[in-house]
Amino acid sequence: MFNYFPPPRKGVKQSLIRVFLRFLRLMIPVWDKALLVVMGTIVVSTFRVVNPWLSKFLIDDAFPNQDWNLFYSIFVAYVVLVLIQRLVGTMTTILNHYVDLRVSLALKTHFFTHLQRLSMTFYESRGIGEHMYRASADTGAVMRMITDILPATLRAVYEFILILIFTTWLDWRVSLVILIYSIPYGMVAQKIATIQRRFDRRVRERWQARDAGLQEGVAGAAIVQTFGRRRHEVKRYLNLTIEGYRAAMRLFYMRVIEGELARNNGLLPYLKNRLIRLYFLREVILGNLSYGSVFPIFSYTNRLSNPIQVLIRYFQQVRIAMVPAERILETLDQVPAVTDRPNAPAMPPVRGDVVFDDVSFSYEDGTPILRNLSFTVQAGQKIALVGHSGSGKTTVANLLLRLYDPDSGRVIVDGQDLREVKSSTYQDQVGLVLQETHLFNGTIKENILFGQPHASDDEVVRAAQLADIDAFASSQRNGYDTDLREGTRISGGQKQRIGIARAMVRDPKILILDEPTSSLDSATEQRFLQSLDRVAEGRTTFIVSHRLTTVANADLIIVLGDGQILEQGIHAELIRNGGEYAEMYRRYLGLDDTRQVG
Ligand SMILES: Nc1ncnc2c1ncn2[C@@H]1O[C@H](COP(=O)(O)OP(=O)(O)O)[C@@H](O)[C@H]1O
Ligand SMILES: [Mg+2]
Repeated sequence: MFNYFPPPRKGVKQSLIRVFLRFLRLMIPVWDKALLVVMGTIVVSTFRVVNPWLSKFLIDDAFPNQDWNLFYSIFVAYVVLVLIQRLVGTMTTILNHYVDLRVSLALKTHFFTHLQRLSMTFYESRGIGEHMYRASADTGAVMRMITDILPATLRAVYEFILILIFTTWLDWRVSLVILIYSIPYGMVAQKIATIQRRFDRRVRERWQARDAGLQEGVAGAAIVQTFGRRRHEVKRYLNLTIEGYRAAMRLFYMRVIEGELARNNGLLPYLKNRLIRLYFLREVILGNLSYGSVFPIFSYTNRLSNPIQVLIRYFQQVRIAMVPAERILETLDQVPAVTDRPNAPAMPPVRGDVVFDDVSFSYEDGTPILRNLSFTVQAGQKIALVGHSGSGKTTVANLLLRLYDPDSGRVIVDGQDLREVKSSTYQDQVGLVLQETHLFNGTIKENILFGQPHASDDEVVRAAQLADIDAFASSQRNGYDTDLREGTRISGGQKQRIGIARAMVRDPKILILDEPTSSLDSATEQRFLQSLDRVAEGRTTFIVSHRLTTVANADLIIVLGDGQILEQGIHAELIRNGGEYAEMYRRYLGLDDTRQVG
């Protein structure tokens, strides 16, 4: 895939231009269409500026000389010009729309793909809402900058320059007048627009406050009533509403003023245009300008305040769009925690031998989470990771999944250092069940297929049987095609079973279960754990569980604490040693009702 967003070299400041250019690279795949849009725009703009000149020639050259040839030529030229302008204009609009959609698609896809590649650490450092906001609102704002505001500005600038050239040709004084009035006028108009935006924002804030007040009032209705605060609440809501109306009214006055001062059909622009026209008419009467010059001059005075305004507005909007643009780049410049070597080979079919060789790891520099972990596991064994919350069990699982690479030491599967292989080809062969299974919108079958999109129906059913969810699925009205969206009541235990089926459908040789039962009540947990032995059969299974009785039959129990392996061995050994595990187990049996170990 084309890399649209090469991050800057270290130490290079992200200037406005640089940020802008990086986004402009989105245009590269559609550069030919974009070029056509630019050319089409130039054609249309040129015609718009040239158009009044036809009338000028008509008055100045055709009329006085009774030149019928010129008369008809101008007439034909006029029709042809209008036709071409329409045609090119329409094509340009269509192409522009296409470019717009394509670029938007590229940005959003790129952003989404990148989010998927980032580590969990990044997700945790910002809320989910923040990422959603970036993916939709921020990309939208940046898109507007590139596909709306930019072309509008280019057009405005081009037309402005063209008009200046044409008027200078007519009479340099015309250009001078145009320049002298349009710059301060554009600035005033812009100032007004800024003030209006501020008013606008204030109104929106007031309405938001009112809605928040409404929501609180409704949500807390029972409490409000009980505490006899109804009058108080109503008064509060009324005040919020009144403030909103006041702000809205002020905004409305502002709009009226703005209309009169800055809009093309307002009082001030009207007077200004009249004055300028009067001035030039006087020039015509004095004989300093030809009669026909009236046409281009009248046409241009109307149009000219616009480019300056557009230009100033554009720079403002670019400044505003910089905030979302930088937020997007912040995300896009995040380097995934794990990157594959170039041309890393695919992982061969996994057997399931796992070795942690002196592994040390930290999420953030300077905070070691795991220190010098070493253990060896044979294919097909069941390994229990126990330890207090925060002792690093999930981190071990993360390293085994190669969601992160160790700082030092090696994670070896089937004799293969995981850093040497293409990580997706390895991860595809590992099954993972977490504390809670996230179900996607879709049918039971689709949710199971998530683990292995190419699995056959038979394989889905077999996975479901292993996971003990087959009976539930079959009992539903639409069987495996039952839509989980449509209010199918599904229990926590059933959810976890779908999670297991999703892992099983890949037939993984390594299975990782990270506290798969901790969100279940104890009866459900019991049933769930019974099916686990069947599921683990023939696979290297890592299980993190607080339920130490399930752990007791593991081939290897690893007790983590303080980032290190406190002890490892089988249950009987560890009990005999009378260490940490023996202590935990003793407490566990004593507290069996609540099972608050770790
Ligand atoms: N993404 C992360 N970024 C920074 N620190 C983390 C991250 N995930 C976990 N930690 C820290 O690493 C330690 C081990 O966490 P974890 O492996 O989740 O423990 P466990 O699964 O045993 O409860 C904890 O101190 C935790 O705060
Ligand atoms: Mg954990």
